Amino acid sequence: MAQNGEGKDSQNLRHQEVGHKSLLQSDALYQYILETSVYPREPEPMKELRELTAKHPWNIMTTSADEGQFLNMIIKLINAKKTMEIGVYTGYSLLATALALPEDGKILAMDINRENYELGLPVIEKAGVSHKIDFREGPALPVLDELIEDDKNHGSFDFIFVDADKDNYLNYHKRIIELVKVGGLIGYDNTLWNGSVVAPPDAPMRKYVRYYRDFVLELNKALAADPRIEICMLPVGDGITLCRRVS
Ligand SMILES: C[S@@+](CC[C@H](N)C(=O)[O-])C[C@H]1O[C@@H](n2cnc3c(N)ncnc32)[C@H](O)[C@@H]1O
Repeated sequence: MAQNGEGKDSQNLRHQEVGHKSLLQSDALYQYILETSVYPREPEPMKELRELTAKHPWNIMTTSADEGQFLNMIIKLINAKKTMEIGVYTGYSLLATALALPEDGKILAMDINRENYELGLPVIEKAGVSHKIDFREGPALPVLDELIEDDKNHGSFDFIFVDADKDNYLNYHKRIIELVKVGGLIGYDNTLWNGSVVAPPDAPMRKYVRYYRDFVLELNKALAADPRIEICMLPVGDGITLCRRVS
């Protein structure tokens, strides 16, 4: 939130800094959402994990608290039992999911980096939900290929959250569309990619934002044209596109 005495330039700068967390045109409004509706209802373990992650050098990658709350709600709304997550980092979205699932719910969670997952794991264990998690270290694509080979995995997932390497999202889509059940949901994260999806090509952008931008643009077009899904793009966090499989 802008403080008294700050100039317009510094307000703009601060807004850019939180831009990856919120696409709202006002930091004050985003802060209002967090302080009024998200933080007061955030489960204690999620708060602990959020605070622990904030100290990590790559904390820019974490799912925001409002998006965590959204995922938790969505999973309950659709009565999901079997889910998948691609891109775990320290596990904030994973914990939001695990807390929402029933006692016998399951999450297949994949990440190339186990170390970061293990940072958050003690909090997940303390929350009493680690038994729901099957963590696989390594790239997600070969795991998906293996799942596809077995017919019994087809149409077996209620919810799949994709929050990893944007240059592979279309490769993931080709596979997970077979794995999610008809009526089930896929959530693609970062589909508004720091707002860069509407920036002119010569606009100043961080290097990684520029690199992944074209992949995000391509994904958004492909999802909009895919007759197997209904879609809804929400400006929560960095943009999340919900895809409901219809055929
Ligand atoms: C944005 S972070 C995930 C954030 C996480 N959902 C959270 O709530 O904090 C992206 C993660 O994707 C992982 N990743 C990158 N490439 C991957 C791949 N090919 N397969 C699986 N995970 C990958 C990274 O190691 C990183 O932890």
